[in-house]
Amino acid sequence: MLLDLHLPDRSGHDVLEAIRADPATRLLPVVMLTGMATASEKIRAQSEGVTDFIPKPFSPEELLPRVRALVMLKLFADEHEHAEHVILTLAKTIDARDPYTAGHSGRVAEYADRIASQMGLDAVARNDMRRGALFHDLGKIVIPDAVLRKPGALSPEERAIIEEHPVVGNDLLSPMKTMRKTLPVVYHHHERLDGSGYPEGISGPAIPMTVRIVTAADIFDALTTDRAYRGALSVGTAFEILIEGVQKGWWDRDVVDLLRDIVDATGLSASGLHTGARTD
Ligand SMILES: [Fe+2]
Ligand SMILES: [Fe+2]
Repeated sequence: MLLDLHLPDRSGHDVLEAIRADPATRLLPVVMLTGMATASEKIRAQSEGVTDFIPKPFSPEELLPRVRALVMLKLFADEHEHAEHVILTLAKTIDARDPYTAGHSGRVAEYADRIASQMGLDAVARNDMRRGALFHDLGKIVIPDAVLRKPGALSPEERAIIEEHPVVGNDLLSPMKTMRKTLPVVYHHHERLDGSGYPEGISGPAIPMTVRIVTAADIFDALTTDRAYRGALSVGTAFEILIEGVQKGWWDRDVVDLLRDIVDATGLSASGLHTGARTD
């Protein structure tokens, strides 16, 4: 959009603000045409998210290359947004395929984000982690329903199929450049600190904090919601199991403690008592 600062009925600032506030147009490149714009007007436009300024009078030779470059940029931005939207929808579809896990990834992302915020992780790391959490079980797309929704214990063969999902998720997302930083979360969310997890069996400092956070959030949500193989456990029982895991050297104690504080503070209610501790 080529936008004049001085319009007959409203100011260019108002238009720019409206464009940035609307999710449908927030990424639209906006070039402000400035005649006698003051420095303060320019600073204001910058803080409102203007893309570029072109002083008036301008020549077509000056205007055209800039407009072309911005149209290209917008096309890339659209493609990127579209691809993210497709993957997000896909991740939700996978959660919804098993009625027991509907909303699981969203809740894991939410718990993980709160832990990370308590821990003071920076915004960029948090954002990457959050996306990783939303896609962590994407690889379940290849697991047959008969295995995914099996009530009761899994055979070693079925267990091996389930344990493929972090690898498959990683394979699906790795061609996408924008997903690269979220991959460790997807690939390693079933690792344990003592190296007894999967798929790589990495241990201790090799497991990044963002991964430890998502792992704890994932287990907590799996334990406290109904699953095909058991009903939801109470929050108290879920933490008993998590603490047991900490003592065995599987999970990060600080992460589990923070999650406990967060759950206590938000008053997540206990939802029934059952047995079994499968958490895939
Ligand atoms: Fe998983
Ligand atoms: Fe999960």
